[in-house]
Amino acid sequence: MQFKDKVVLVTGAASGIGAATAQAFARAGAWVMLADISDDQGQQCLAQIEAAGGRAAFRAVDVTQAEQMRELIAETVRRWGRLDIVHNNAGISGGYALTADVVEAEFDQIVAVNFKAVWLCMKYSIEQMLKQGGGVIVNTASALSLTVLPGSAPYNATKHAVAGLTKTAAVEYARHNVRINAICPGVIRTAMLQNRLDVDELLPKLTALHPVGRLGEVDEVTQAVLWLASDAASFMHGSLVSIDGGWTAQ
Ligand SMILES: NC(=O)c1ccc[n+]([C@@H]2O[C@H](COP(=O)([O-])OP(=O)(O)OC[C@H]3O[C@@H](n4cnc5c(N)ncnc54)[C@H](O)[C@@H]3O)[C@@H](O)[C@H]2O)c1
Repeated sequence: MQFKDKVVLVTGAASGIGAATAQAFARAGAWVMLADISDDQGQQCLAQIEAAGGRAAFRAVDVTQAEQMRELIAETVRRWGRLDIVHNNAGISGGYALTADVVEAEFDQIVAVNFKAVWLCMKYSIEQMLKQGGGVIVNTASALSLTVLPGSAPYNATKHAVAGLTKTAAVEYARHNVRINAICPGVIRTAMLQNRLDVDELLPKLTALHPVGRLGEVDEVTQAVLWLASDAASFMHGSLVSIDGGWTAQ
């Protein structure tokens, strides 16, 4: 897939799925704005892209902050003139807790990052895309937009909310040439998983959820994001695309 001179924004671009899609878009010829709260890791990711001959910039942003998101999109447009593609991807998982045991502060943080910030990024991106006559948004939802994992109520609920935002906005803006879809990955080997305190106990259980008998790799997700962002997906609006080794087909 070629994205020569397309302008792409990736949030959560310092690590995992976002870093991989930012690199893949840059390899395919796009101008890529990387955004992440992690300044060091974001700069490292930018350096890797530039070392490979890619064209990119990094901005340290907390996606939960409306003004920072508005300014991120304004800066992208100031630099490169437009905003063709957004991979709206930043997210956090939270720890294991049954619903009644979830700590309020953690609940609020997961809602802020996984739900409100996804809407903020859509809001400012769609405003720009309407001005320029169209664009594409790929939200990172989850297999947990379609099913649930006990012990992860705020994560499950916010990922269900991303599915709702995706479908609503896709219907609203289909006639304005703004295509909006979401990917629903199963469990993918990234820092989100590896940083969990209970990772050793969790891994065999999570692997068993996937009929394919293994977890996913970031590159398997990246290919779906690029395809959804490409013209090959021109009739895709409001789809929740599962990339989950068969987990949610059961
Ligand atoms: N790894 C999985 O198994 C899996 C499965 C389904 C969906 N997802 C989703 O994929 C997306 C990417 O996750 P990942 O697995 O690559 O995890 P990751 O932890 O490797 O990457 C997430 C990135 O988001 C950034 N981020 C977190 N809070 C932020 C904030 N407030 N502002 C800006 N950036 C922020 C982090 O710094 C990090 O770089 C998330 O939305 C996650 O929910 C992951």
